[in-house]
Amino acid sequence: MEAMIQNISVGDLATAAVVLVGVAIIGMFLLKQPNSPPAVPGWPLIGNLLQLREKKPFLTFVKWAEDYGPIYSIRCGASSMIVLNSTELAKEALVTKFSSISTRKLSNALTTLTCNKALVAMSDYGEYHKTVKRYVLSSLLGSNAQKRNRHHRDSMIENVVTNLASKIKDADFCLVELREPFQSELFRLALKQSIGKDVESIYVEELCMTITKKEMLQILVIDPMMGAIEVDWRDFFPYLRWVPNNSMEIKIHQMATRKRAVTKALINEQSQHIARREEISYMDYLLSKETTLTEEQFIALVWESIIETSDTTLVTTEWAMYELSKNLKCQDRLYQEIQKVCGSKKFSEENIQHLPYLSAVFHETLRFHSPVSIIPPRHAHEDTQLGGYNIPAGSDIIINLYACNMHKKDWEEPESWKPERFLSDKYELMDMHKTMAFGGGKRACAGSLQAMLISCTAIGRLIQEFHWKLKDGEEDNIDTVQLTTHKRFPMQAYIRARGIEI
Ligand code: HEM
Repeated sequence: MEAMIQNISVGDLATAAVVLVGVAIIGMFLLKQPNSPPAVPGWPLIGNLLQLREKKPFLTFVKWAEDYGPIYSIRCGASSMIVLNSTELAKEALVTKFSSISTRKLSNALTTLTCNKALVAMSDYGEYHKTVKRYVLSSLLGSNAQKRNRHHRDSMIENVVTNLASKIKDADFCLVELREPFQSELFRLALKQSIGKDVESIYVEELCMTITKKEMLQILVIDPMMGAIEVDWRDFFPYLRWVPNNSMEIKIHQMATRKRAVTKALINEQSQHIARREEISYMDYLLSKETTLTEEQFIALVWESIIETSDTTLVTTEWAMYELSKNLKCQDRLYQEIQKVCGSKKFSEENIQHLPYLSAVFHETLRFHSPVSIIPPRHAHEDTQLGGYNIPAGSDIIINLYACNMHKKDWEEPESWKPERFLSDKYELMDMHKTMAFGGGKRACAGSLQAMLISCTAIGRLIQEFHWKLKDGEEDNIDTVQLTTHKRFPMQAYIRARGIEI
């Protein structure tokens, strides 16, 4: 008997486990609960995994919604997922049924990168989430904190404008890429807000090397954003978690170790100067709180503020400038509005509330190019109902924001970028939730005010200072990459100074 057991290989055990679970899953299909949402047919065992191989699942979800309606279930290996494709259903899940759907379901990669749900955005709803959300709002993202950090945003935008202006050599149009200067200035702002200082380079003891600012951006922002979409097949077959997936584990582990080491080095360097500093950064605030945070949680929260500041605002601003460079009538309308309100003065944050068309450009960009196309999955921890269907505890809930923002029922000609749609009386000028781009309910985006202030001021100043015209061939360059919908290739446009008097 013992010999028989010794002869059983890991492969045999895996096969047996797969067969057993396969039988269980087929059984579950046959014993489908009453009043369940329609199910998208898939294969035994793997379910709909093969149909989701393409890089943009939000598009596949929309296609399925045409056949099965706005709510349906899919199966990815052992997980049952309920996909929601309309604003009505998204609001029901995010607001009305929040108490049943407030935990997160994270992939293996995200669990490692977020130090096991230590981030505000990735934690489960509960005491920890409430405490750290209060911290981030009080010291970084709430309106008082945003007022304190105003001078950092002003200098950020001034630097972007100066950088672009320096490229213009004569009265002709000059070819530029907005991404590089905008991204590096946004990262500079992220460092100032999070650790209290802009840093050009730093010695990282755990890596035994000095790294430049560009390398910091790569390690703290770009690599983890790519890592977040790494798929580990064991995410879908948790009962096979014991089977090694070395290449994936090593890659994500290295990313997590490097970003932790760099964040820690930044924190250590800055901690030595706290006594001499006048301004209180997010890091100082967390240190002063004498909290029960562990060292890992503290490092993760400081890193979270850096990565969140550096990413989605860039995505939105670049897409907005792409659309304005392509739609010259809209650009001209915005310029006229800016001229009317600002005259010969520089556009600044105070002006935003007086420019309905600028606000419309911002929200239409969020609708059309939603930076977060699918909300990081939630998990129903108890039986509940959505759209009148029974949703059993244990289901993962996928909210397809792309579908909500492109739904024909809610939006006339959703496939066109038309800021004018937001000029009607039914929209409040400063309402941040005209679309579902920032999510909704208790876990709606905590950084929406900062994103709006930076993005709108940047768009306003960039249009006030320069004429923009897309480079030929750029019109079709609309592919996206990464977790948030980054433009795959940086926008290339010609700019010419408008020559305003200041
Ligand atoms: C245009 C820019 C942005 C978009 C479209 C966006 C989108 C979102 C979405 C959809 C969620 C909701 C997730 C959910 O319901 O589960 C979210 C949450 C969050 N966002 Fe943003 N975001 C943006 C900018 C920012 C910025 C600049 C920051 C911080 C610097 C930030 C910090 C957060 C935080 C902390 C949460 C978690 C809130 C919670 O769980 O209670 N976001 N964001």
